Amino acid sequence: MAYSSIELACADGIATLTFNRPKALNALNTALLEELAEALNSIKQDDAVRVLILTGSGEKAFIAGADITEIATLTPLAAKKFAQFGQEIISKLQTLAIPVIAAVNGYALGGGCEMALACDFIYASEKAIFGLPEITLGVIPGFGGTQRLPRLIGANLAKEMIFTGKHLSAAEAKAIGLVNKIFAPEELRAAVDDVAKLIATKGKASLCAAKQTVNQGLNADLATGLGIERDAFALCLASPDAMEGTSAFLEKRKPVFTGNLHS
Ligand code: CAA
Repeated sequence: MAYSSIELACADGIATLTFNRPKALNALNTALLEELAEALNSIKQDDAVRVLILTGSGEKAFIAGADITEIATLTPLAAKKFAQFGQEIISKLQTLAIPVIAAVNGYALGGGCEMALACDFIYASEKAIFGLPEITLGVIPGFGGTQRLPRLIGANLAKEMIFTGKHLSAAEAKAIGLVNKIFAPEELRAAVDDVAKLIATKGKASLCAAKQTVNQGLNADLATGLGIERDAFALCLASPDAMEGTSAFLEKRKPVFTGNLHS
């Protein structure tokens, strides 16, 4: 499918999805969200893809939020549908089987911060700015921010961000655990590509098992989480990658993982 508000490129097991409405700082309108849903479906069906990178086009923004021109016209009923649509697509991103990295190159505000929160981890440019400024528009976050942010950084820090709408620098976002690493703007993409390449050398079945186990365990008590881990560990042995990985170690060579989710 040809996209106009996003770009999707796949090479060497790595898919890169770029939000591409630079004149509106990559704001999320319905058309962009529909394209994102379509792109996630195609990534899901591509056995060769092992990692997804999300980033924004232009120098200023990852995503500056949901499109305010669209929000301004919504009735309460339409607003509920808009939030549900955005939440469904962002949940689709979060539950994608493969690891997803956010390369936050600029503003990640409102829906943009919420998009990054649904990724497995965030690398950011030193110029990135994070925030949930919806309160300043007389609304609240509607694409998962009130739920994912407190789960990641704790309720009190999340409430401070949500109640004040204040912008956080990349360094502040790193200090509270929102961002894993920060880089000079010109070094961000190379750093993200490096970690994505490293992840892409691993077996797809074990990558997906690891992601699913961490995510499911976070919503469970420890004993249940350990049970989820045991089952997923056992299932890894059904993939040829477990044989390849252990044999390669014993034969003192690098493993070459060829298994996919269905093997
Ligand atoms: N929606 C629509 N258009 C947006 C936008 C958004 N979220 N953010 C920026 N733009 C547009 C601006 O209107 C402007 O368009 P024009 O050139 O046609 O005037 C263009 O992008 C460039 O923006 P600015 O001139 O404002 O650039 P700046 O450098 O002065 O400021 C900014 C940058 C601080 C990010 C500022 O644009 C801003 O505050 N944007 C809004 C951020 C925001 O409130 N996001 C939350 C949206 S609501 C939401 O996301 C709800 C939800 O959870 C579902």
